[in-house]
Amino acid sequence: MQIHQVTPDEWRLWRDIRLEALANDPAEFGSTLTREQEYTEDDWRERIVGGLNLVALDPDAVGLVGATSKPGDLYLYSMWVRSSHRGQGVGEALVRAVLAWAAQEGWERVRLRVWKDNLPARKLYLRLGFVDAKEPEHMEYLVS
Ligand SMILES: CC(C)(COP(=O)(O)OP(=O)(O)OC[C@H]1O[C@@H](n2cnc3c(N)ncnc32)[C@H](O)[C@@H]1OP(=O)(O)O)[C@@H](O)C(=O)NCCC(=O)NCCS
Repeated sequence: MQIHQVTPDEWRLWRDIRLEALANDPAEFGSTLTREQEYTEDDWRERIVGGLNLVALDPDAVGLVGATSKPGDLYLYSMWVRSSHRGQGVGEALVRAVLAWAAQEGWERVRLRVWKDNLPARKLYLRLGFVDAKEPEHMEYLVS
């Protein structure tokens, strides 16, 4: 399994795994399949140019995570692993890659939104050093 940083020219790779995530686990994300199916090539490219877009390859894409800047913080979003590949550390590898990139780029804090009842995701974030933030259903990680 390899973690790969998607370039704008690879926008189809990101689009396909992102739409697979929205189709399979619609309740876990703050967006919808219907909405993102309407995105144009330019919309997808814009999302990649503006941040960090990682996919886990085995050898096809089996997971993804994104990170983008939101006032003052790096925001981790779109964390998803195909169900056949869960429980094998793919999610951990993706989050660790975001945290390494955050440190390299000089970010002080990484934030994310996760529903209270999403225990597999919460467990993963807690294990990697995230703590609950003041804002409900948000977690944060202080980059050292
Ligand atoms: C959350 C998610 C990304 C974790 O991915 P993953 O590759 O299974 O992550 P890891 O293997 O690194 O660890 C996840 C934890 O959940 C457990 N787990 C989750 N799903 C599992 C499964 N189907 N089988 C076995 N264990 C599972 C793992 O054992 C591990 O527990 P641990 O911390 O006690 O070791 C994945 O479950 C997922 O895509 N969920 C749906 C989308 C989602 O909730 N995204 C997060 C939005 S904030």
